[in-house]
Amino acid sequence: MTIIAPSILSADFSRLGEEVRAVDEAGGDWIHLDVMDGHFVPNITFGPALVKALRPHTKKHFDVHLMISPADPYLAAFADAGADTISVHVEAGPHIHRSLQTIRALGKRAGIALNPGTPAAMVEPLLDMVDLVVCMTVNPGFGGQSFLPSALETVSRVRTMIAGRPIDIEVDGGITPATVAEAARAGANVFVAGSGVFGGGPEAYARNIAAIREGANGETGRDGLRC
Ligand code: DX5
Ligand code: ZN
Repeated sequence: MTIIAPSILSADFSRLGEEVRAVDEAGGDWIHLDVMDGHFVPNITFGPALVKALRPHTKKHFDVHLMISPADPYLAAFADAGADTISVHVEAGPHIHRSLQTIRALGKRAGIALNPGTPAAMVEPLLDMVDLVVCMTVNPGFGGQSFLPSALETVSRVRTMIAGRPIDIEVDGGITPATVAEAARAGANVFVAGSGVFGGGPEAYARNIAAIREGANGETGRDGLRC
């Protein structure tokens, strides 16, 4: 199933509640929330208090992407704040297995995220522990970066590796109507988009989400032309 997950990193931070409601109404399937600590990645965003404040604004799935190290001390707080899926980076600490166990024990879906430079094989021993594999298609830290096509090799390898298990494969970074089709062909089914959704302001959200969905479903080609 194709899932489009607008990333609020590219939303107007002065009115985030409204922005979440707007992308919900515009057809976003999940809301992607990027948590950054200025240590694991060179940027700082927000923590569990903001996730909790946004929770009443939508019933949609909260896909919380933790780009923090360590992550374990904060997992319960994000679960209590209303996260549905919590993803941790395999590069962010020595005990990823424990982090995934903790997320599942908190009653949440567990995700594992891989940077573009991390081999797909890192997730292989963990496949029974995860509901989502996040393949970064940019180096994490900022919205609006260019898509890295080389990261799709990881997507294809993970798709082969999961061999029919009920695990979603998410691509995150540089997803637009022009790049989404190749990510879908490589095997992704969840598409995070920040600037690709929020660009153009609220009147463009529905159109932007629809264009990404059409691209993912193979209804348009690389140049946005129908094929
Ligand atoms: C990057 C974040 C992404 C970011 C994507 O570190 O994990 O979720 O919001 O932004 P775009 O879609 O603009 O590349
Ligand atoms: Zn993200």
